Amino acid sequence: MLAQELIRKKRDGGTLDAEEIGFFVKGLVDGSVTDAQVSALAMAIIFRKLSADERVALTLAMRDSGTVLDWSDLDRPVVDKHSTGGVGDNVSLMLAPALAACGAAVPMISGRGLGHTGGTLDKFDSIPGYVTQPDNALFRKVVADVGCAIIGQTADLAPADKRFYGIRDVTGTVESVDLITASILSKKLAAGLQGLVLDVKWGSGAFMATLEEAMALAESLVAVANGAGCRTTALLTDMNEPLASAAGNALEVRNAADFLTGRAIDNRLYDVTVELGGEALVTAGLAPDRAAGADAMRKVFGSGAAAEHFARMVTALGGPADFLEKYEAYLPSAPVERAIYPAEAGTVLCVDARAIGVAVVELGGGRRRPEDTIDPAVGLEHLAGVGHSVDSDAPLAIVHAADEAAAARATEIVQKAYRVGAPSQVEDRPVIAGRVGPSG
Ligand code: URA
Repeated sequence: MLAQELIRKKRDGGTLDAEEIGFFVKGLVDGSVTDAQVSALAMAIIFRKLSADERVALTLAMRDSGTVLDWSDLDRPVVDKHSTGGVGDNVSLMLAPALAACGAAVPMISGRGLGHTGGTLDKFDSIPGYVTQPDNALFRKVVADVGCAIIGQTADLAPADKRFYGIRDVTGTVESVDLITASILSKKLAAGLQGLVLDVKWGSGAFMATLEEAMALAESLVAVANGAGCRTTALLTDMNEPLASAAGNALEVRNAADFLTGRAIDNRLYDVTVELGGEALVTAGLAPDRAAGADAMRKVFGSGAAAEHFARMVTALGGPADFLEKYEAYLPSAPVERAIYPAEAGTVLCVDARAIGVAVVELGGGRRRPEDTIDPAVGLEHLAGVGHSVDSDAPLAIVHAADEAAAARATEIVQKAYRVGAPSQVEDRPVIAGRVGPSG
């Protein structure tokens, strides 16, 4: 088989069979298909799309390109959540321990920030001592003992996606329902899950800008995952403003710790976390329906059981034993903190979430190139949400920066990201815009 023949076939609108797709995926892993050929096929797929069968074949071949985890030794159902990526999206930090507190096992294999979006793994790197790349034995032990472990992707989990994604990232071929489906699900299915809930973001801060595009992605993800035997549902959630009131690695950990300890809870973040958790508990067979699942989530947040599981996970993976008691002291802080005020007083009408993400990257809290190191301390907090009043006493946000020049650059971006007006102009936009999956 020749890679160039497969590219020509797809370029001309043909359909690839499972054997041809398998050949391409094998070439991704062993290097026999060149970067140029990978990018050409990706671009052909962008324009010609994949059939449902091709999408499934690509997902399964990428899943099987490395180790597929097996959790059959556990006596708990194994579930996880995946977000398509957003700004101020620290849901995983609360969700995984809450699901564990409800009786699920959550082996959460998460990624680094991508473009303007944050990554769960980068957030955990700001906790001193926390090992994001434990060996397999420790990972399994923490999932078995605590019920959840949030770690980074290991080299042997869906290696085909690792190379494919890296090439797509620099060839303008990320935004494809077919390729995003195969990319996300190859990793999630390789993690050996029984149930999965997907948080498909739509809006200015998401990869899918419109609700229609997000719906198409959600339908594709849900169909392929359920077809592969993993019970899966998706919620479509709003990313037209940051979800948490913080964006930046250590700041989002602090925001999560505030949430878990009950010191301060962002309402939209709470609602999304509770609803995603309710879905996950149904897929796990731990709740009879979504309402009961959501109730169970509220209970473990209220009782402190979720916080306790978070603390145990942090300790088991090498972090401080008293992290939740003293997180302010443990998390790194930036030397410069400045309030960002609006150019004019008013009520926040909209926030360009993508611009907020870009401001964090500009501050050094995200990467411009994959090899960049990030500054965990920088970012934005106390971000005013839609409907909040802002003026010369009530800032848009507080910037945490490495120096004054960086703070000034971020200030300019944030001021431009906000539009203010009269309270009557505020549009009511639900944080959960839809759901895809079996009813329940
Ligand atoms: N996240 C992934 O893991 N893959 C994609 O293709 C896009 C978002």
